[in-house]
Amino acid sequence: MKLLVTGGAGFIGSNFIRYMLKHHDDVEIVVLDKLTYAGNLDNHRGLEQDARYRFVRGDICDSETVEPLAADCQAIVNFAAETHVDRSLLEPGAFITTDVYGTYILLEAARRFQVPTFIQISTDEVYGSVETGSSVESDVLEPRSPYSASKAGAEMMVRAYHVSYGVPVIITRGSNNFGPYQYPEKLISLFSTNALDDEPLPIYGDGMNVRDWIYVEDHCSAIDFLLTHGKPGETYNVGGGNERTNLEVTKLILRYLNKPESLIQYISDRPGHDRRYSMSCSKLQSLGWRPEHGFEESLEQTVCWYRENEGWWRKIKSGEFADYYRRNYAGRQLDESP
Ligand code: NAD
Ligand code: TYD
Repeated sequence: MKLLVTGGAGFIGSNFIRYMLKHHDDVEIVVLDKLTYAGNLDNHRGLEQDARYRFVRGDICDSETVEPLAADCQAIVNFAAETHVDRSLLEPGAFITTDVYGTYILLEAARRFQVPTFIQISTDEVYGSVETGSSVESDVLEPRSPYSASKAGAEMMVRAYHVSYGVPVIITRGSNNFGPYQYPEKLISLFSTNALDDEPLPIYGDGMNVRDWIYVEDHCSAIDFLLTHGKPGETYNVGGGNERTNLEVTKLILRYLNKPESLIQYISDRPGHDRRYSMSCSKLQSLGWRPEHGFEESLEQTVCWYRENEGWWRKIKSGEFADYYRRNYAGRQLDESP
């Protein structure tokens, strides 16, 4: 099976490629990635020698690049997106261009060349903040950040291409991923690398926001599972079943790295900060998929990976990252804990 994996040089995409090459001898993977600040060929270390892997640098918004790649693949798996909520608050434009327009270009190519499967990697953030209970796939979408709104917009276009043109699409709504090769702007990768440098861990608000964490390999196994067992036109929640407050996660990271809790620094809250995400995954589980990795062990392994792969994240943190960090975090420190 030949897969076109867009956004495959990012965090989840690169883990997905490794997963597929490891578990399927007969898979062929073409990666299309623009290599934005978040795309990184260091994430593909060791894959270059594999004859089943090919990398193409390019933009999903460019139909001339996309079409020849879509023409002879059996599935498109679309990871390509701008993905960080805080950046979407600073500069929303790129989110709309890549996440919505770029998805439309991919769908057009899938329609034109009758690609047998199109998987859109979406997120639980499209449901908006879930104060009580858990989201099911038929719930109304109430995105609240430019990031989640752009992902919801992409989903609407994917759905429209299924209904209007019969493109065989599947949408996955993943919960918060963690694991190796995550750009160190997200909670777990940022806090692990800051703690290793004895730098403050900036918690937004009171630290009691809840996320459902999934180990990236479990997310990858769910996508692989849906490539063969997913039903065209359907949407599937993919959660890890590990709801934790940000403060709980932060304290575990500090414990695994043997660092003091005095590194925790409360800062002013993210505007529109979703309080909680929670999904019911019984639709996917009823098909036979289950997450296999426990939260605490995988978190400890992940934190150790950042300790053992300093060169990978130091290279990132010494580049564009420093400017973003200043823009997002400067002047937000609170005098007293909430
Ligand atoms: P990431 O930011 O690490 O990687 C995104 C990748 O997309 C990068 O390699 C980047 O270069 C590439 N890209 C961006 N714009 C592009 C364009 N116009 N053309 C081609 N490539 C482009 O993101 P991630 O965390 O790996 O997330 C991957 C997907 O999974 C995204 O669609 C995201 O919305 C979704 N998702 C992420 C999470 C999470 O917790 N990280 C959870 C659920 C869903
Ligand atoms: P993040 O990793 O950005 O994922 P998302 O916002 O897409 O869920 O953030 C996870 C949680 O951690 C979220 O509630 C915001 C919080 N957070 C902080 O408190 N401080 C930080 O510096 C970051 C990056 C996130």
